[in-house]
Amino acid sequence: MTGHAGGEPHRLTLAHPRGVSEILVGPGLLAAGAQGALGGVAAWCRGRVVFLLTSEAPDRHCGAAARHLLETAGAARIETIEAPDGEAAKTVESAASVWRQMLARGGKRDSRLVTLGGGSVGDLGGFVAACFLRGIDYIQIPTTLLAQVDASVGGKTGVDLPGGKNTVGAFHHPRFVLADIDSLRTLPVGELRAGLFEVVKMAALLDLDLLDRAEESLERLLGGDAEALTPVVAASIKAKLDVVEADLEEGDRRRLLNFGHTLGHAIEAEFGYRGLRHGDAVAHGMRFALCLALRRGLDPQFAERIRRLIDRIGPPDLAAVERGVGVHLEVDRLIAAMGRDKKARESGLVWILPAAPGRGEIVADLDPEVVRTELRAFLEDSRAASSGGAR
Ligand SMILES: NC(=O)c1ccc[n+]([C@@H]2O[C@H](COP(=O)([O-])OP(=O)(O)OC[C@H]3O[C@@H](n4cnc5c(N)ncnc54)[C@H](O)[C@@H]3O)[C@@H](O)[C@H]2O)c1
Ligand SMILES: [Zn+2]
Repeated sequence: MTGHAGGEPHRLTLAHPRGVSEILVGPGLLAAGAQGALGGVAAWCRGRVVFLLTSEAPDRHCGAAARHLLETAGAARIETIEAPDGEAAKTVESAASVWRQMLARGGKRDSRLVTLGGGSVGDLGGFVAACFLRGIDYIQIPTTLLAQVDASVGGKTGVDLPGGKNTVGAFHHPRFVLADIDSLRTLPVGELRAGLFEVVKMAALLDLDLLDRAEESLERLLGGDAEALTPVVAASIKAKLDVVEADLEEGDRRRLLNFGHTLGHAIEAEFGYRGLRHGDAVAHGMRFALCLALRRGLDPQFAERIRRLIDRIGPPDLAAVERGVGVHLEVDRLIAAMGRDKKARESGLVWILPAAPGRGEIVADLDPEVVRTELRAFLEDSRAASSGGAR
């Protein structure tokens, strides 16, 4: 990784079986592109029909800059397509609608696709690009912190079925990822928090320097300070790349990125994907995973350190969400939901737990009774601690 000297963006690369993804991180990327400074991107889209897939908020805040960049780069034509906001973008129906619009507007095998938005638009766009005319090249321009540190990198794309999230998809790596830190300026603080939980996930298990940095600069990060955010986004992507490169098609090492996700996904599913952002569910999932890790001998000081950082970022009060959504989380239902998750194995639940500072372990043989007992205590504690009181 090169440094961020003299306004130069951080540049990272991911080599994968079909080529290389180039990842640029820094403030002012879209503006620099619009001045012709991103040469590789220009060569990529010169003379092509470029489809810009976005949704309302990122289009409103960053659409003009992205179109200007693509015009400067010499795109023959730019066709903007708007997807529904948020998770609603990730359906087979919206993928089909985008494919139909691309065909109707002259999409060909050598057309390009650019996604501009959060992880939802990125996951949809990557999937659309993977399948359109058996696969076209695309670029990700992630505009949420979560999409910058996690979703835009690593080649996983897909949509949801009513029965489960990310159940239809493909591996398809973007040619470029342009993580423009300035696009985070308009992001609601709740979305920043959700992205920061994914940063904690990577820092705790993969990069203790990143953990130090996140702790030290947390107030500035939550304030959306570009100078604080840039190195944190770059280091998070680097941490993710290290495990993705070690393990391109979801073998074991990549599973480390699922710290907090075993219970997190089950909570999201039980709430019907309402009331809680993905990153917030992961925060609660990490707090619970720490309870299990302590049982396996994790240093209590390290567990407390991670717990404190999560609490400083401030996950939503779980019991208050229960009341708001009208769903009372139950141990048996959560365990059943975890078993249905596509990340579970035939043999049972898989837990990603911190084993030591900066090191994670993948655990598939936890005693189910221990999980039940800990989960019951976890839910009781979160209700007892709730500002609105237990129900
Ligand atoms: N492919 C992967 O490896 C991977 C990894 C992690 C998460 N994901 C997926 O990512 C999705 C979540 O992504 P997300 O957290 O970015 O949510 P999101 O895409 O739903 O975006 C969150 C909200 O932020 C708004 N928004 C986006 N950019 C904005 C901006 N610059 N200013 C103001 N508002 C803006 C959006 O309109 C939306 O309402 C989930 O579907 C998850 O499954 C994928
Ligand atoms: Zn996640």
